[in-house]
Amino acid sequence: MAGQGGKTAGARGAILTFKDYFPPTKGESQLLEAAGPFRSDPFVDSAPEELPFLGGTDTIRSCGGRKAADDSPPKGEEMKVQYVKRLRMGQRLEAPIRAAELPDGYVWLPWKEKLTDIHGRVIYQGFVHDLDGSIFPTFRNFDACLRLMRSVAASVNFLPRGTWLIARPKPLSPEGYEFCASIQGLRRGSSTAAIQNVVVRPEFRRQGLGRALLLKAMEGFLASGCRWTELTVTALTHPAIRLYERMGFEMRQIIYREVYLE
Ligand SMILES: CC(C)(COP(=O)(O)OP(=O)(O)OC[C@H]1O[C@@H](n2cnc3c(N)ncnc32)[C@H](O)[C@@H]1OP(=O)(O)O)[C@@H](O)C(=O)NCCC(=O)NCCS
Repeated sequence: MAGQGGKTAGARGAILTFKDYFPPTKGESQLLEAAGPFRSDPFVDSAPEELPFLGGTDTIRSCGGRKAADDSPPKGEEMKVQYVKRLRMGQRLEAPIRAAELPDGYVWLPWKEKLTDIHGRVIYQGFVHDLDGSIFPTFRNFDACLRLMRSVAASVNFLPRGTWLIARPKPLSPEGYEFCASIQGLRRGSSTAAIQNVVVRPEFRRQGLGRALLLKAMEGFLASGCRWTELTVTALTHPAIRLYERMGFEMRQIIYREVYLE
């Protein structure tokens, strides 16, 4: 399915790519981060089931890395990309947000700059053996995860009050804690909070940490003046999609994200 990028947006049954939604501007099709606020999307209502999880492949010119973590080739070089189906989900933020409760033995660590690389490490540990780790090179590369988190923390849009770690005290360890889960937020526009990486390390899953992370971040987003929150998730990541649905997120849009094929 080479060269699907040029298919017509909205045509029933067509492969819809990111380029259809957000036509290339400067720097080519710069993915979700450039996408701006939600808009209603008739295509989502018309035929989501007909869209495959993996769209076509294409060869495009690199724009030199979308963010610090991105290992794509230098600007101008040809690179092969695969289109991966992602769901954009969102919900309104309204007080009161339910209290984020942790199981016994776990504690919240609020954002501090010195925790940047710990977040990066948890992102790596939580994604590397999951679907996203098999799809996105960043999530199976420890250093790229550190760079990803550093770029999130350095962003002018960084939302520290929506960025949390969950840990378990471990007094005899060098750091004093075992780090279990992470979430981060970025402001988009004036009142939207974009959730970045919701991740619970595999050995700590199914205890309510994922749900607690979302509630804690949403509380922080609201306190930061945001009135809407959104995220994107790979279409076949069932545990995460189920979690988001249970937490009140609704599907807003389907997009195809370009992934650099190494
Ligand atoms: C998605 C993820 C964060 C969930 O974390 P978690 O701590 O296990 O989630 P919780 O225990 O809070 O579960 C809350 C709800 O999510 C849903 N859920 C979580 N894991 C699930 C699974 N494996 N299968 C089905 N539903 C699941 C359930 O509805 C669950 O509620 P329930 O236990 O009452 O049925 C975790 O699986 C993860 O880190 N996955 C890898 C990273 C990832 O894909 N992140 C999402 C990026 S967009």
